[in-house]
Order: sequence, then C-alpha cells, then structure tokens
Amino acid sequence: MKTVSVINIKGGVGKTTLTANLGAYAASQGKRVLMIDLDSQASLTFSFIEPEYWRVKYAGTMTIKNFFDPIINRAEKRQSLSSLAIPINFGNMFIAGNETLHLVSSHLDIMNIDMRLARTVDVSEDNIHASTFLNAHSHIRRALNDEAGNYDLVLIDCPPSFGASVMNAIAASDYYIIPAKLDYLSSLGVSSLENYISVFIKKYNRMTGVLNEPMYTNINAGTLGIVPMMVNIQKGDEMIDAQEGYLREFSGKGYHIFQFVRNNGTLFGPSPKDGIPAVLTRPKFFTPTARKIVRELQALGAEFLSLTEI
Ligand SMILES: Nc1ncnc2c1ncn2[C@@H]1O[C@H](COP(=O)(O)OP(=O)(O)O)[C@@H](O)[C@H]1O
Ligand SMILES: [Mg+2]
Repeated sequence: MKTVSVINIKGGVGKTTLTANLGAYAASQGKRVLMIDLDSQASLTFSFIEPEYWRVKYAGTMTIKNFFDPIINRAEKRQSLSSLAIPINFGNMFIAGNETLHLVSSHLDIMNIDMRLARTVDVSEDNIHASTFLNAHSHIRRALNDEAGNYDLVLIDCPPSFGASVMNAIAASDYYIIPAKLDYLSSLGVSSLENYISVFIKKYNRMTGVLNEPMYTNINAGTLGIVPMMVNIQKGDEMIDAQEGYLREFSGKGYHIFQFVRNNGTLFGPSPKDGIPAVLTRPKFFTPTARKIVRELQALGAEFLSLTEI
C-alpha cells in the first residue's frame, strides 16, 4: 500500500480534480483505492456524492469527523478508516467488475477539528513534550497501518493550508504530489509548501528520536513531482511561453514534471455533477479539445502508477 498526499497551500490549483481523477484511474486499472477528503469544503466528497444524499445518508456517521471526534474526545472506541469508507461506483457504466474505489468523506466541522487537534499541541513551542506532538500528528499514519492489506493506494486530498490535519496527512504519506498552475504566485506557493513540509518532517523525526518509542517511527514523505494543471494551450498545441518558463524553473529545482492537464472549462463544468471523473469519460462523444484532456488525464494516471510502482 502506498499513501500519497495531494497537496498545495494554494486553493483552486486542481488538488481535488487531480485526486478524483488519479483515484478513479487507479481503480479502473484494478487497484484498490481509498480516497480521504480532508478539506472542509468537501469538494472531493461532492465530486462523487450528491450533497443532499450525503447529508441524509452519511453526514452523521460516515465522515472524517467520525474518525477524529473519538480521538479528540479521548473515547475508548475508535473508528477504523475503512469502516468509514463509502464505496463509490458509477453504476458500472465505465468501470467494470470488482474494483475498489472508496471515499472517507469530509465534513464542514473538519476545520474545527484542525483547531482542536492543534490545541492539543502548541506547534510554535519548540520544546513541547514529544509524545504529545507525535500523538497529535500520527492519527492518520497509525490508522493507515491497520489498512495495509486492504488498499493498494491511499490518496489524501488536502485543504489549502498547513494545519494539524495536513501534518497528519504528510506524516502518513510515502509521497506527496503537487498540482500547480504555471504562474508567478503558484511558483512562490510551491517554495513555501516545501519549506513547511521539510520543517515539519525534521521536527517529527527529532521528536521520535527524543521519545524513542517503537510505536513512533521516522516519517519520510518525498515529492513525486509537480502536475501542471489548467495549462493554457495555443493553436498548434503549444504551451504559451510564460508557462514554459515556470516549467523550466520547477525542473531546475529538481522536480519531476508530470504530464500536464490543459485548461478546459467545458469538461470540468459538468463532470463533477455526474459524479464521474473526466478520466473515465468516453472521449468519442467529445470535441477534439475535450478528447485531448481525457488522454492527458489517462497518460498522467499511467505515469503516476508507474512512478509509484502501484
Ligand atoms: N484542467 C482544468 N480546466 C478547467 N477547469 C479546471 C481544470 N481542472 C480543474 N478545474 C476547475 O477548477 C476549479 C478548482 O479546481 P479544484 O480541483 O477544486 O482545486 P483545489 O482542490 O486545488 O481547490 C474547479 O471548479 C475545477 O472544476
Ligand atoms: Mg480541493
């Protein structure tokens, strides 16, 4: 089982779109996939489940809040992540057979959970007691240890912030993947994201050394690379020059650059409403541009599976 956080502290860069499409693609290739929606906006959740249906059927008992609440309240009975996972199926229209695509849905209150988790530790305080720090940031890591035989891939859709729940995601991850737009502010965002991640990983590992308890092991999430999202393409299928410059900047910093995904409003408008990620739609009914973006998403999915060896 490999765990991958889809992360960027900027909003609107395509984190949720990337998570939904990588998850659905991996499932269509026969991988057992668990997606975890950590964003209180619940965009990933509502990409797959109609909001009113989710509210009636799942909001009370089957969300990430049901995972964190007993932990924060120090309740005896904890919930495993797989017991909270909602099976996603598309009426077997596009994915045949017995593939596993599961979703731990989000909840508006997760923002609150972030604050309550953070309150258990003062992350600005350097000499905080190691066991408190490690405990607060390893809930997802420890819960996923129990799921090792159940899934091939766990994808965590992060909110655009670096709070306690995102630190939980990083601590649980083998890798992280960064969707980014190719513009100036996005390039700044990637640098600060890397800074947050490396400070957190160093601190976590320093704490495991201090505490020296077998239940806490060092973490080492590494970057898989950058996925250029919403890329503007000119006639003749060329990227505009300014974007190429940001790509060069990212590869100059040593990032692997994944297959890009072009900007295409018509495809991403209706697809979440139908609950089927674009990567699984049938291009033959589409315009030439829509067909290209579906192929890009498939190529990206294949590249992702091969790079992670899932
Ligand atoms: N390639 C694309 N072309 C056009 N719109 C896109 C594309 N990818 C995503 N979008 C749209 O952009 C918006 C932000 O994407 P989203 O995945 O929600 O970003 P994030 O999770 O980083 O906030 C959404 O409305 C989404 O449908
Ligand atoms: Mg999102």
